[in-house]
Amino acid sequence: MDLFEAIKNRRSIRSFEDRPVPEDLIKKIIEAGQWAPSACNRQDWKFIIIDSKEVKEKLLKGTTAYFVGKAPLLILVVYSNRTDNLEYKDHLLSAAMAIQNMQLAAYASGLGSCCVNNLPIKSGLRKILNIPRHYDPVSLICFGYPRVVPKPLRRKEQLTEIISWNSFNFKDDFPAIDLKLQVKRIIRYIYYRLPASLKKLLDPVARKFEKRFDK
Ligand SMILES: Cc1cc2nc3c(=O)[nH]c(=O)nc-3n(C[C@H](O)[C@H](O)[C@H](O)COP(=O)(O)O)c2cc1C
Repeated sequence: MDLFEAIKNRRSIRSFEDRPVPEDLIKKIIEAGQWAPSACNRQDWKFIIIDSKEVKEKLLKGTTAYFVGKAPLLILVVYSNRTDNLEYKDHLLSAAMAIQNMQLAAYASGLGSCCVNNLPIKSGLRKILNIPRHYDPVSLICFGYPRVVPKPLRRKEQLTEIISWNSFNFKDDFPAIDLKLQVKRIIRYIYYRLPASLKKLLDPVARKFEKRFDK
């Protein structure tokens, strides 16, 4: 498959067929992640495949992402946070590079995928999956054969609108104090700390929100 075709047509998939992902394909996807660039060539990623029903149930209690429970394959990408470059948080960037490789490899192999960061609070996730403090959970990726494939998304801006030469020559019209954003951050902070029972009450709201991205 042409790489540009894959980059442009991959969509986040939230509806999967029941059939499992064969093990050789799982390995191929993780290998694609392993070939990503990483800061100082540290390659400090680890890939946790989640197939235990019990672990899945614990995860599901802490997320309102409606499709996670139905995804045949879940892989949590973690990366060592023992970086000296906290300025650019390069461990997160390295993990993100691996994730994009994995999503493109999945697409090229006929699989769908979706990143999920609507997860249990990090400390909770560490407990569920026994992740030591030197590794940061970066994202959970759901994989499976797509049941519904949304149409390619349009880009919000023309290329010329997002390029400038030699300086940041764009409109920066965000308000100095953005109350709406502050409120959203507070809500998100509280949301992550809600007990599972209360989080479940928010399921319909989250579903509506995520369905919006499926268009
Ligand atoms: C870091 C990151 C976190 C995301 N978290 C979620 C999530 O929690 N739930 C979800 O449904 N989609 C999630 N997504 C998927 C985005 O909603 C999706 O990439 C975006 O709407 C663009 O659609 P596309 O991937 O089909 O191009 C996430 C994507 C990224 C990159």
